Amino acid sequence: MSYETILLDKREAVGVITLNRPKALNALNNQLMDELTAALRDLEADDEIGCIVITGSEKAFAAGADIKQMAEKDYTDVFMEDFITANWEEATRVRKPIIAAVAGFALGGGCELAMMCDFIIAAENAKFGQPEITIGVIPGGGGTQRLTRFVGKSKAMDMVLTGRHMDAAEALASGLVSRVVPTEDLLDEALDTAEKITTYSRPAVMLAKESVNRAYETTLAEGVRFERRVFHSLFAFEDQSEGMAAFIEKRRPQFKNR
Ligand code: CAA
Repeated sequence: MSYETILLDKREAVGVITLNRPKALNALNNQLMDELTAALRDLEADDEIGCIVITGSEKAFAAGADIKQMAEKDYTDVFMEDFITANWEEATRVRKPIIAAVAGFALGGGCELAMMCDFIIAAENAKFGQPEITIGVIPGGGGTQRLTRFVGKSKAMDMVLTGRHMDAAEALASGLVSRVVPTEDLLDEALDTAEKITTYSRPAVMLAKESVNRAYETTLAEGVRFERRVFHSLFAFEDQSEGMAAFIEKRRPQFKNR
């Protein structure tokens, strides 16, 4: 499939999706979200791919939902299309890890998309925000929920009620992003991180992701029980024997993803 609003690149075991509507600061319109969904499904189904990176340009990861497209909609349109949630949540359905590599603006739906990924690596010039209040609405892609879980109620309220931007240092200090790197190093850092993940046993990686995500959906006691069962299940994979034998024999493990 060929794409017009994104670029899809397979770099060995890492799938890289670059949002690519530079004139609109990568504003997320229906076409881009359809293409992003198709690319994510392609990478999820590709056995050669073990980790995914979603990135944008140096100026913008994405400046939000496309306001020009949204402005034409009325209540019936957004209700009948189930606008925002219908296909925007594909990143949350992917079982392989997804890293958001964010430079420049990650606003509104752009910030929400980054938060749907498994973790965010930010460039020093990154700016995060949920400015929907400034155009008469509220976040519609999970921003009020996910941002609150990342940064806590006080800061989430501050962001959502004022629409102000958060810089990379504040995003790091408040737990929204996992690390901040010089802007020119962003893609290399994300690719190195993704490559490292692809060297591990894929079932273990996928189950680690599923287990951490469970922490958002359940109580501590249930989450710990879930983790223990998953931990037990990993002893059914050949990669567990190989990983532990390699440690004891002081050699690199040869994982077979089985
Ligand atoms: N939708 C459509 N077009 C957008 C856009 C958006 N979200 N953000 C930027 N653009 C377009 C601008 O209209 C402009 O296009 P033209 O040259 O054709 O006028 C182009 O991108 C460049 O933008 P600016 O000239 O505004 O660039 P700037 O550097 O002066 O400002 C900015 C950058 C601060 C990001 C500013 O563009 C901005 O505030 N954008 C809107 C941010 C926003 O409100 N996002 C939330 C959208 S609502 C949402 O996302 C709902 C949800 O929860 C899913």
